[in-house]
Parts: sequence; C-alpha cells; structure tokens
Amino acid sequence: MASFSHIFAVLAWFAFLHGSEVAASNSSLVPFRIMPLGASVTFGVGSTTGDSYRKDLEDLLLANGNTVTYVGTNKNGNFTDNAVEAVSGFVISQISALANTAVPQLKPNLVLLDAGTNNCNQGGTVPDAGANVTSLINNIFQQSPGATVILTTILVNPAAAQDACRVTVNEQYTALANKIQSIGAKLILVDMRSLAGPLVTDLADGRHSNDAGYVKMANVWFSGIQEVISKGMIVKPSTNATAVVGSTGNVAKSSTTSARASQTSSTLVTTPSPVKGSGTRAVGTGGREAGLRVGMGFMVAAAGI
Ligand SMILES: *[C@@H]1O[C@H](CO)[C@@H](O)[C@H](O)[C@H]1NC(C)=O
Ligand SMILES: *[C@@H]1O[C@H](CO)[C@@H](O)[C@H](O)[C@H]1NC(C)=O
Ligand SMILES: *[C@@H]1O[C@H](CO)[C@@H](O)[C@H](O)[C@H]1NC(C)=O
Ligand SMILES: *[C@@H]1O[C@H](CO)[C@@H](O)[C@H](O)[C@H]1NC(C)=O
Repeated sequence: MASFSHIFAVLAWFAFLHGSEVAASNSSLVPFRIMPLGASVTFGVGSTTGDSYRKDLEDLLLANGNTVTYVGTNKNGNFTDNAVEAVSGFVISQISALANTAVPQLKPNLVLLDAGTNNCNQGGTVPDAGANVTSLINNIFQQSPGATVILTTILVNPAAAQDACRVTVNEQYTALANKIQSIGAKLILVDMRSLAGPLVTDLADGRHSNDAGYVKMANVWFSGIQEVISKGMIVKPSTNATAVVGSTGNVAKSSTTSARASQTSSTLVTTPSPVKGSGTRAVGTGGREAGLRVGMGFMVAAAGI
C-alpha cells in the first residue's frame, strides 16, 4: 500500500488543480451524477421498497431544484433512478474493488460513501479502516477527476461490542476527514450517528435502517450535499463516462447474486446526461479538464500509486 505521505501529496495536487474549476461554476446549478457506494445499507436492505435512502434523497434534491441521476453497476429499489454501487456484506476492500471498476466507467461528480459496517460485523476492531478508506477516496479522486466525496460515519448498533467497533471506526473517519480537508481536497464527513441520523429504534433488524431510518439518512446526506454545494465543490460531470447504468427499470429486492448479474445487461451510452429535474447545464470537455488528466497522470506515476 502506498504510504500516507504519498497519498496526501497526490491529494494536495488535486486540490491545487481543481481550484480554478471550482471558481468557474455555480455549484447549485451543476447536474449531479451521484454514485451511492457501499454495502447493504446503501443497497437498501431493511427498506420495504429496497429504495434505501436513495429515493428520499433524490426527492429532496429535486424539490431543491437540483438535477440528479444515480449511477452504479447495480440496481435496487422501487423507483426509476435506482442505480447503486453496493453489495450486501461487502467490507472496505471489496467496496474499494467495486469502486475501482465502476468509478472510471461512470465518472460520478459526487460519491456518497458508506463503508466499514461489515468489517465491524466480523468482530474485533478495525484499526486500518481509516487508512484503507483514505486510499479508496484517493482512488476516486484519480478515477473521476473533479469528483466530490461525502463520507458517512457508520450506523449505531444495539450490541455493545459491535457498537464500540463502530465508534472507533468513526473516530478514524473523523481524523481522515480533517486531514484530507486540511489540504483542500473535496471531501466532507456527515455523521449518521448524530441525533439527526437513525437511532437504534430506527433499525429494521439491528443493523439496517427501517424506512423511517432511511428518511433520516436521506436528510443527513442532503445536509451534506447542501454543504458541498455552498462550498462550490460540485463541478460538471465528465463527458467521458463509458457507461451509465440505471434509470432503465426496476429490480425488486433481490439476492446480491441476481442483482449483480443484472449489470451484464447494462446499457452503454456515449453521451450520458442527467435525466431528471430542471436547470441542466450543457456539459463539455474543456481544455482545463484535458490538462487536468495530463497533470494527474504525472502525479500518479510520480507517487507510485
Ligand atoms: C447559483 O444559483 C442559485 C440557483 O439559481 C442562485 O440562487 C445563486 O444565487 C447562484 N449563485 C451565484 C454565485 O451565482
Ligand atoms: C412500488 O411503487 C408503485 C408505484 O408507486 C406502488 O404502487 C407499489 O405499491 C410499490 N411497491 C412497493 C413494494 O412498495
Ligand atoms: C487494508 O488494506 C490492506 C492492504 O490491502 C489489507 O491487507 C487489509 O486487510 C485491509 N483492511 C481493511 C480493514 O480493509
Ligand atoms: C476517456 O477515458 C479513457 C479511459 O480512462 C481514456 O483512454 C480516453 O482517452 C478518455 N477520452 C477522452 C476524450 O479524454
């Protein structure tokens, strides 16, 4: 694994490169191409519809005047825009592998990341959660230039030992967020363990939110999205996505295996565009974006990541 100093050197370079792009756009008008990235909670286990927080969040964004499309190689939920990048039971390293495949293809401009719950579910503690999630976030910044990441703390759990693990993982996430923010990279942390997030009484089965819990999660994500908008972090999605999956049908709550299999029938499109809402801006590949890719290739190679 690359050392922290290398990772942060790369992050700092991104922050530098992206400064002028941020200033050039009104973040609240830029269409969102959101990748919900995680495991069963993101997929929608515990939700009667399979929607997870995703439909509630989309409704909040649309009501706010934003243009939204979700991207991911999987689908779940009883709504049209139900693409998701999440598999039940996945630990951080598996979520990283999902992202390494999906992010370069789908080029989200916002990633909502919820990872680590299943590491705690294995028992014990997870002292390297923060380090590995830092690498995951760094990879997202490289694979989808200009992307913003919102990381969430992991949910409360009614079992004391399980919850203690979650608390220490969340402390690592707070530390990594402070470190990444200190060099100006586009990451914020939202706290699902706050009073605004699901309480133990908002869990369906001790691990996953129920419908009321997912409404709370949507509200917490929405607050985070308003924060990244106000900070001018959101830039137009890349035109260089090679695939957009979703918005083409529903997959009822289903087993992980069959839902994953559905990705083989994904629709390939060459000019992905947001499908909902109003205020869509034309997207294009400017010289700045091309220059950015060149700069990144250099830094990535130099850092040996
Ligand atoms: C950005 O767009 C929003 C929505 O139209 C508007 O309210 C806001 O004033 C704009 N901000 C700037 C800096 O233009
Ligand atoms: C799915 O959505 C449709 C249309 O809104 C609704 O009639 C149906 O009851 C929903 N199904 C479930 C399982 O929620
Ligand atoms: C962290 O990454 C290392 C190196 O890939 C791996 O051996 C370890 O299992 C990972 N730990 C977690 C919690 O993801
Ligand atoms: C789009 O991305 C692919 C793979 O990352 C790259 O090979 C290609 O050169 C890119 N195209 C443009 C127009 O930047």
